Amino acid sequence: MTDVAPLPASLPGDLPTDLLIGGRWRPGGDGGRFAVHDPATGAVLTEVADATPADGLDALAAAHEAWPAWQATPPRVRSEVLREVWERVMARADEFAACITAEGGKPLAEARAETAYGAEFVRWFSEQAVRITGTVRTAPSGANRQLVMRRGVGPALLITPWNFPLAMATRKAAPALAAGCPVVIKPAAYTPLTTLLFADVVREVLAERDLPPGVINVVPTTRAAALTDPLLRDPRLRKLSFTGSTEVGRVLLRGAAHNVLRTSMELGGNAPFLVFDDADLDAAVEGAMVAKMRNAGQTCVAANRFLVHEDVAEAFAAKLSAAFGGLVVGPGSHEGTTVGPLIRPSAVSFVEELVGDAVSRGASVVTGGDRPDLAGYFYNPTVLLRVRPEARVVTEEIFGPVAPIVTFRDEDEAIALANGTPFGLVAYAYTRDLDRAFRLAERIEAGMLGINRGLVSDPSAPFGGVKSSGLGREGGEQGIEEYLETIYVAI
Ligand code: SIN
Repeated sequence: MTDVAPLPASLPGDLPTDLLIGGRWRPGGDGGRFAVHDPATGAVLTEVADATPADGLDALAAAHEAWPAWQATPPRVRSEVLREVWERVMARADEFAACITAEGGKPLAEARAETAYGAEFVRWFSEQAVRITGTVRTAPSGANRQLVMRRGVGPALLITPWNFPLAMATRKAAPALAAGCPVVIKPAAYTPLTTLLFADVVREVLAERDLPPGVINVVPTTRAAALTDPLLRDPRLRKLSFTGSTEVGRVLLRGAAHNVLRTSMELGGNAPFLVFDDADLDAAVEGAMVAKMRNAGQTCVAANRFLVHEDVAEAFAAKLSAAFGGLVVGPGSHEGTTVGPLIRPSAVSFVEELVGDAVSRGASVVTGGDRPDLAGYFYNPTVLLRVRPEARVVTEEIFGPVAPIVTFRDEDEAIALANGTPFGLVAYAYTRDLDRAFRLAERIEAGMLGINRGLVSDPSAPFGGVKSSGLGREGGEQGIEEYLETIYVAI
């Protein structure tokens, strides 16, 4: 083990750092451990068991063994388990928030918001667990009845990202558990601690009620492909849900083809943020601050391209720069910080590269455009004006605190620019014209649209994209469907 500084006092002293398999905490099969870093300083926070491919298969075996009993557990009991988990996560919200900030870097206020957001998926799906319905009708010929019922799809592999280590785990695990599907979670190696803490809460509630321990398993690993491949080829696995890049999503979809697995894919975005000339510019800036700056721009739904009517572009850029100027960059655990670090050093150099490319094509830096003088992986909030639509900062997902502004002349051009990408996760638009809002809803190629809002995410609404941004929906009434089979019985 390398030298590891003591964990921040705000973290639970008994923070789990092993694998959770079949209700037991255990080290990795080969004893390996890997370091989890604080992106605000680069320091090692702690070390976590590094699951081997054999550990992954053990976790799947545990999930598979738990399946019949969990599927047969009354929906009301599954619902109560989830409700209890929601209550306990909220009761320990400060610990969860500290953990999210420590390993992911986001400011504490945002980490608290993520805790409430992540826990809310658990409460929402506790309510959905008892509302799984079917239909019955007489066949049109009158010869028989048609009973259509729903059944949990079975053991699910949930591969979660580092940018919302609680919320992305709960967004997948809660509907799976509500539907009667045991889970194996592979959290991102950058941020395994929050997911392990969450799994410990679920484990505790299951154990107190004498429910199958293999309902939740967690296998952090640095060997993602080596662990995942055998799972995708194992017939005991029935479902794969992934949040991450489109590139990795494609690889996983190819792997999932082997057993024709049910899949949900929440992949990359390149969200346009449209500001029309009739928009309330102050409201647009307020929305932009959320759409762009949540988690320092490291969200799939981050506004990636600001498409602004040419008549209001200068005014919008000035107001946005003034708002960016009020942000405080620093470690997320420091009081007053509003912009935390990026997740790793290469994320900072990537952002630098994109800004450099935009500037070399004629963009001007209105504010930011550099790193602050801090130890961790930071980049200053940046506004770029007169950005060419073909600049990399516009065509690639930035995942950093940079707002490139591209101008348009009319609605058709704005929509063409917005749709001119292989991605279609979310779009935002600011306009006072209701007819236009409906035209945008009909023509913008995105799974979600915020009208005069910079935030669309809500556990009670379907989250997901079109085109290369993914398959399926998470949250809302739709989220549980991803974990249910439809069975038709002719009687
Ligand atoms: C994501 O970045 O993938 C999720 C963001 C959200 O749920 O708002």
